[in-house]
Amino acid sequence: MNILITGGAGFIGSAVIRHIITQTTDNVLNVDKLTYAGNLESLVSVSGSSRYQFSQTDICDKEALTHLFQTFRPDIIMHLAAESHVDRSIASSADFIQTNIIGTYMLLEVARQYYDNLDERQKATFRFHHISTDEVYGDLHGTTDLFTETTAYTPSSPYSASKASSDHLVRAWGRTYGLPVVITNCSNNYGYYHFPEKLIPLIILNALNGKPLPIYGDGLQIRDWLFVEDHARALYLVATQADNGKTYNIGGHNERRNIDVVHEICELLEELAPNKPNGVKHYKDLITHVKDRAGHDVRYAIDASKIERELGWRPQETFKSGIRKTVEWYLANQEWVKNVQSGEYRHWINKQYKS
Ligand code: NAD
Ligand code: DAU
Repeated sequence: MNILITGGAGFIGSAVIRHIITQTTDNVLNVDKLTYAGNLESLVSVSGSSRYQFSQTDICDKEALTHLFQTFRPDIIMHLAAESHVDRSIASSADFIQTNIIGTYMLLEVARQYYDNLDERQKATFRFHHISTDEVYGDLHGTTDLFTETTAYTPSSPYSASKASSDHLVRAWGRTYGLPVVITNCSNNYGYYHFPEKLIPLIILNALNGKPLPIYGDGLQIRDWLFVEDHARALYLVATQADNGKTYNIGGHNERRNIDVVHEICELLEELAPNKPNGVKHYKDLITHVKDRAGHDVRYAIDASKIERELGWRPQETFKSGIRKTVEWYLANQEWVKNVQSGEYRHWINKQYKS
């Protein structure tokens, strides 16, 4: 099969490509603009494969996309390209509207024209898989309720509103134009090659450098953490097995308060990196409560029973096993870390965490 993946140089997209190239016989075309979040170094283990191709292309460029569809002839689209960081969307939302909404619209239009010209056999298996987030559902305030596939959309941030818009566009293209679409809404991912603007890699790297560990507000917000390789397996399953029109929630069954996540990382570092930076007695002493995120969602928690029931997927990692692998990976891959901490990265961190 030919699988066109957008955003394949990002955190989750690169995990999906590594999974497909190492575990299947499919061909991949990675279409990525290479924004600050895109990094081809996350793909070095598979980019030498004859089944892998890359095109540096903006998904808002309809002409370029049309050409790629005509030459690669995809059987499946897995659409991950997006602006993905909530704090950046609060600071400046324009790129989120452009890529997440307009970019998705362009991709849908190109896919629709391409699909209309397929023969009946190709049409039967064609899928446009839109990779989305649990943040479209807003947040939960109780302790036991869960997001299901029928929870109403009430996004809180410019990021989640842009993702909700793109979900609506995808469903509309399915219903109105008959484009075969599937959507997945996933909880927080963590793991290898995670860009260090997000909570878990930021905390690991700040701790190793003896810098403050910033906790927004009281740190009691809850996220449901999923190891990225479990997500990659789920996405491939949905893209290749799900019926037209289906939606699946994907989650890790690993709800944690932010403050507890940070404490777990500090404890692991005590064991795995006992030689601390100068002046640091315990990593946890670096924990610093800072100004809360505007509109901060309180709790996300996923009911992932539908994907387990219908497609047989369950996460393999617990948070305990996945976070240990993640901390070990960051300790062993300082070169990757050094290379992503470019001028743009430093600029963002200085602006975001100035006291
Ligand atoms: P990421 O920010 O790490 O990567 C995004 C990728 O998209 C980058 O490689 C970037 O270069 C590319 N990109 C951005 N704008 C583009 C454009 N206009 N044209 C082409 N490429 C462009 O994101 P991620 O964390 O890997 O998330 C991937 C997808 O999964 C996103 O759609 C996100 O909304 C969704 N998601 C993420 C999480 C999570 O926890 N990270 C959870 C659920 C869903
Ligand atoms: O739920 C899925 C979403 O998870 C994805 O759709 C997003 O693309 C992804 O970025 C992630 O969003 P979050 O906002 O939940 O992730 P982040 O790592 O930015 O923050 C996790 C929690 O930690 C959140 O409650 C905010 C808090 N936080 C974050 C940072 C960066 C802090 O307390 N301090 C920080 O410095």
